Amino acid sequence: SLGESVRKEAVLPDKLLVVTVATEATEGYLRFLRTARHYNYTVRTLGLGHEWKGGDVARTVGGGQKVRWLKHELEQHKDQDQLIIMFVDSYDVVIAGTPTELLWKFQQLEHKVVFSAEGFCWPEWSLAESYPPVSNGKRFLNSGGFIGFAPQIYGMVQLWNYKDNDDDQLFYTKIYLDESLRERFNIALDHKSNIFQNLNGAIDEVVLKFERNKVRARNVAYDTIPVVIHGNGPTKLQLNYLGNYVPNSWTHEGGCEVCDDDLFDLSMLEDDALPHVLLGVFIEQPTPFMSQFLERLVQLDYPQNRLSLYIHNSEPYHERHIQAFYERHKDRFTTIKIVGPEEAMSQGEARDMGMDLCRQDETCDYYFSVDSNVALTNPDTLYILIQENKKVIAPMVSRSGKLWSNFWGALSPEGYYARSEDYADIVQAKRVGVWNVPYIANVYLIKGETLRAELSNKNIFTLPQMDPDMSVCKSIRDKNVFLHISNRDEFGRLLSTSKYNTSRLHNDLWQIFENPLDWKEKYIHENYSKIFEEDYYEQPCPDVYWFPVFKEIMCDEFVEEMENFGQWSGGKNQDQRLAGGYENVPTVDIHMTQVGYQEEWLKFLQEYIGPVTEKLFPGYYTKAKALLNFIVRYRPDEQPSLRPHHDSSTFTINIALNNKGIDYEGGGCHFLRYNCRVESPRKGWSFMHPGRLTHYHEGLPTTRGTRYIMVSFVDP
Ligand code: UDX
Repeated sequence: SLGESVRKEAVLPDKLLVVTVATEATEGYLRFLRTARHYNYTVRTLGLGHEWKGGDVARTVGGGQKVRWLKHELEQHKDQDQLIIMFVDSYDVVIAGTPTELLWKFQQLEHKVVFSAEGFCWPEWSLAESYPPVSNGKRFLNSGGFIGFAPQIYGMVQLWNYKDNDDDQLFYTKIYLDESLRERFNIALDHKSNIFQNLNGAIDEVVLKFERNKVRARNVAYDTIPVVIHGNGPTKLQLNYLGNYVPNSWTHEGGCEVCDDDLFDLSMLEDDALPHVLLGVFIEQPTPFMSQFLERLVQLDYPQNRLSLYIHNSEPYHERHIQAFYERHKDRFTTIKIVGPEEAMSQGEARDMGMDLCRQDETCDYYFSVDSNVALTNPDTLYILIQENKKVIAPMVSRSGKLWSNFWGALSPEGYYARSEDYADIVQAKRVGVWNVPYIANVYLIKGETLRAELSNKNIFTLPQMDPDMSVCKSIRDKNVFLHISNRDEFGRLLSTSKYNTSRLHNDLWQIFENPLDWKEKYIHENYSKIFEEDYYEQPCPDVYWFPVFKEIMCDEFVEEMENFGQWSGGKNQDQRLAGGYENVPTVDIHMTQVGYQEEWLKFLQEYIGPVTEKLFPGYYTKAKALLNFIVRYRPDEQPSLRPHHDSSTFTINIALNNKGIDYEGGGCHFLRYNCRVESPRKGWSFMHPGRLTHYHEGLPTTRGTRYIMVSFVDP
């Protein structure tokens, strides 16, 4: 058959030549080359290293330079009448099928030259009428892709006698619309995208078609599977989306198949030869867990003498944290520059300034920008991102358990967020890879050389009427630089900052609802989980359990917060705070309700005490409800001890908040029924014992200093 004979010919490399134009090896061009090489096409690139004189083609007319170069190139092929030439753009094109398939489809169309088709008559609308009507399919010629025999294509481009910024599409259009020329060169349009898919005006017609180890784009309007996908005009971002899959960038079977292609291997480099990185840190709103954030910067697994630091802080509230950080670590960085709130710089200006520090410094290899709401829990993040070897790449971070992340998979027509079909799968790491996306934020790495070349304009965060984050993404996209997001590794998470109230002394204590993971990381004892994993607890008296729950910092902040509040009760029986107005066994204390911490404390009981209860008292299911939660202060000259009593609880927890021997002497608890004493409480450890019935107990006298404990009567 004819198909068979073409198939045989197709494997001969000299029968098909792909010609393209690229004045610069942009990422779009490299993507095109990767897809063409994947199918072993022979590609000839024209114009590399030359100046583009074809105008701003994606927005207006132009592109004639491509024809001039093609005309020159074809001189050497004009007599090869068996040679088939396919000309395609390169910045916004991916190849989706084999040469065999391409040639077979070309043969099926039974013409010497086939141009791609689109639904817009560009650049001259008035010519629309002159086109032959088509009953089904796209009517108008697009010059970003065509295929034909060398002599015919040579013949066509011989007619080119125009300027480099004249329009190539208009030129070919006029040839096609001239009946005698159309016949002479035997030209047809690929109306139904058998070969070429132009995306402009057809985005909704094109869907991804996943096969086991490859991905195609299917045109659902014509039920075709095109070989060349072209993001013409304003559809570059849609092509980027398709290009994340087609033909094998990500497949169901192999996952990301191109992720390891161009890595920059750092493992052979000595520490002193590692790239130099400027860390740009941005604190643009009050942010919880600031000290933890700053400490993570020095915990990055990267030699400190290869790091410089720039901090922009717009919040007076955080000056104390930065000051403390600076005192501790100022010697670790090559250089440190801090811009504080007194400089009243806008966020955009501050970001422009940080980036420019790297741009202007030839020794700055990378600019790593991190916002304070990013918890980079993976200390290898910087190292990993450098190895990814992209001009611009962000590590994916999201709010724990939420779909809120630091990238957008698509843009709305107005340039804001739009959900791409794969957005949730990427956030949830059901699809893993490096993704070309229209928007990244909060944390990203940019090559210094890219700042000094494509992104040499200093004001990239400060486009008029645009937020800095959208401004930088648009500026980068407009320079044909791709924005990548990687979810190949787990890097960390995003904090929620919107409900951060800074009116108290230790505001992070209140963050148990908004940022539960960060709260846990900061406050919960590092051995807490061992209670469950390896029975890490003690039983000093019958049915009195003892386990670690708080880190020291929780104890300290808690006590300081209470002392700062200061309204300790007098230790009298009369107590206005109680429903009955009377306390049988009074202590000097502060109730959680008084400091606005009741809800937070109940959440703590539910999350961290409930599970321990159910482990230690099997078969008992706690609601972890408690009306009375209070901190008690024992002092020799105030109230040193508490007489024997029962608690009005099913069980009681009692957490020591400071250290015997350091902060106080004496203290402890005596369970009278068992004649058992615990005399050396441990800071951050909790007792848990039954309340109402069996565990008649007393607080032993504190003989020096101040002892603090936190008590809850659970399930009263
Ligand atoms: C569309 C048509 O497809 C194209 O044939 C016509 O010339 C203009 O309108 P579009 O795809 O929107 O072009 O533009 P774009 O991809 O930006 O530019 C066309 C091609 O010219 C690029 O893909 C690339 O191959 C080449 N080019 C463009 C360069 O080599 N250097 C440049 O600086 C710009």
